[in-house]
Amino acid sequence: MITIKTPREIELLRKAGNIVYRTHKYLQQFIKEGITTDELNNLAHKFILEQDATPSFLNYDGYPKSICVSVNEQVVHGIPSDYKLKKGDLVSIDIGACYKGYHGDSAWTYFVGEPTEDIKRLMEGTKAALYEGLKAVKPGNHIGDIGTAVENCAKKYNLSVVRELVGHGVGTNVHEEPEVPNFSMKYRGPVLKEGMVIAIEPMLNLGSRHVVMEEDEWTISTYDKKPSAHYEHTVLVTKDGYEILTGE
Ligand code: MF3
Ligand code: CO
Repeated sequence: MITIKTPREIELLRKAGNIVYRTHKYLQQFIKEGITTDELNNLAHKFILEQDATPSFLNYDGYPKSICVSVNEQVVHGIPSDYKLKKGDLVSIDIGACYKGYHGDSAWTYFVGEPTEDIKRLMEGTKAALYEGLKAVKPGNHIGDIGTAVENCAKKYNLSVVRELVGHGVGTNVHEEPEVPNFSMKYRGPVLKEGMVIAIEPMLNLGSRHVVMEEDEWTISTYDKKPSAHYEHTVLVTKDGYEILTGE
């Protein structure tokens, strides 16, 4: 079931989304050579608790940490560890927070040092794909229009689209219906309506679209070990478009 959120629920989702946004902003200063991904996890965990919220991902299906940190060829769900960031690392950070029972979910990709032209194309193209997907969000459009917009943008940047993982509805659960694929489908899927809340999250690769699961049974990496980027916002469908809940 795709739920339509009440004004009270929307207010709480705005607060949860804002906490996620501020956690990203807070973490940015620490994303530097030498810090471990577990230190980033602990800083985010503490910051989220200080906002009277809880990290959405901790214990989700047994997930052991509070955020996901996916480096270089890791696409998503990288588990924070004693790995130290070094110059040349591409770092995707995915954060979820739950405030009074309502979630926010957002991911962003950063680079340690000076990115090459290819990495710049990967980062800019994936961010552009997220914003192209957002432009397809308005009442009357279909979920499938988002994926079409994301895929068309990826093509322009000569990037490939991961198909195994998708965006999702957000509410009292961090993952709700509907699924939000990042590729064009034969069926346009459910119609968007005012009051729906969804997370759009393109994962684009520099090489082939294929991915594998690592032995930890969480981390998803590219098959060809080439880098991948991930940008995600949680958004509310409004009367004539959308409102980003995990942004400024
Ligand atoms: N943010 C991820 C998503 O958008 C969720 C991470 S799930 C976890 O789907 F299990 F790793 F926590
Ligand atoms: Co998500």
